[in-house]
Amino acid sequence: MAHRIAVIAGDGIGTEVMPEGIRALEAAAKRFNIPLEFTTFEFGSCDYYLEHGSMLPDDWFEQLKGFDALFYGAVGWPDKVPDHISLWGSLLQFRRRFDQYINLRPCKLMPGIKSPLAGREPGDIDFYVVRENTEGEYSSIGGKMFEGTEREIVLQETVMSRTGIDRVLKYAFDLAQTRPRKKLTSATKSNGISITMPYWDERVAEMANSYPEIAVDKFHIDILTANFVLHPDWFDVVVGSNLFGDILSDLGPACTGTIGIAPSANINPEGNFPSLFEPVHGSAPDIAGKGIANPIGQIWSGAMMLEHLGYQEAGEAMVTAIEAVLSDGNSQALTRDIGGQGSTESLGKAIAERIGAH
Ligand code: NAD
Ligand code: IPM
Ligand code: MN
Repeated sequence: MAHRIAVIAGDGIGTEVMPEGIRALEAAAKRFNIPLEFTTFEFGSCDYYLEHGSMLPDDWFEQLKGFDALFYGAVGWPDKVPDHISLWGSLLQFRRRFDQYINLRPCKLMPGIKSPLAGREPGDIDFYVVRENTEGEYSSIGGKMFEGTEREIVLQETVMSRTGIDRVLKYAFDLAQTRPRKKLTSATKSNGISITMPYWDERVAEMANSYPEIAVDKFHIDILTANFVLHPDWFDVVVGSNLFGDILSDLGPACTGTIGIAPSANINPEGNFPSLFEPVHGSAPDIAGKGIANPIGQIWSGAMMLEHLGYQEAGEAMVTAIEAVLSDGNSQALTRDIGGQGSTESLGKAIAERIGAH
């Protein structure tokens, strides 16, 4: 039976990189004989909101829950719809309602791409950010008081549960076990955030007892961002709360030359609900409509989706094809963010051809 994939392209460059993601997946499906069936949904975009007054239809959960995976582009167009409305009305609902509590975001310096960090070569930057994806600083608990007066107050609570922390830590420690360096770094801020973050540290220390072979360290988020730039080679698996993980997963890819290549997997490890695969980047209104967005983040997310569906070899072949095209360094194929003069389509086609040509 075919694997059923729900496709939601969203806004801006989401709609431009999505066809290249699908092109690459179709090439892999053909080569490895994988039955994939794509179903496209129009909801989850700001244009849908302007027409319907909400980002998603009332029955979105019922419509999507039976799919094997969601393949997602990017959402947001702040000139049309305020970001907190478009994102809380779509992506953040998927992550929560489908209990995708892991956000797995690889950061890898690829061959042929120049790191903005002097002297860094492929191999120097190769780590995962494991981001808690359903609670933490992204909470809907809070509100405004004394609105319109000088005493106006806004509050938004951070929510950290023992279950919520332990499950993301367990995933990160298990991932570190599979890596040659067996190293885990925790992002904290227990010097300033004096209740939730010391608790996070306690749970890390407790979990570390069950993984004696893993080398564990922790940094406060401020110096951790500095160390990403100064010593990216120190990191192997980096685990953080929802907000810290968000920040680190733009900074990490920036250190690898461009956020345009960064993929992510929003995973419900139990498989009770579909997982969601999307590039780390957003809808990039500044370059949307020009056909110059880098499609690699979308394509690599497709590779993570195939691995999640059990096709390890096919996923790896997609990443190998990305690396091969980058190594070739044909500037007619590559997009501008990585030094080329090509387009979203030229790069997508080059990668799809390479996936097919083996
Ligand atoms: P962004 O990631 O959209 O863009 C940041 C910068 O990176 C821009 O200069 C953009 O041109 C560049 N960039 C991003 N992707 C690129 C690609 N594939 N190729 C080449 N360059 C690329 O972040 P932003 O500007 O903060 O946000 C724009 C909108 O996207 C907002 O509405 C924001 O809320 C939303 N957003 C959505 C997601 C998502 O859907 N997962 C993620 C981040 C931001
Ligand atoms: C991401 C994005 C989202 C997040 C935004 C758009 C809500 O930045 O996926 O990294 O903060 O999680
Ligand atoms: Mn982000």
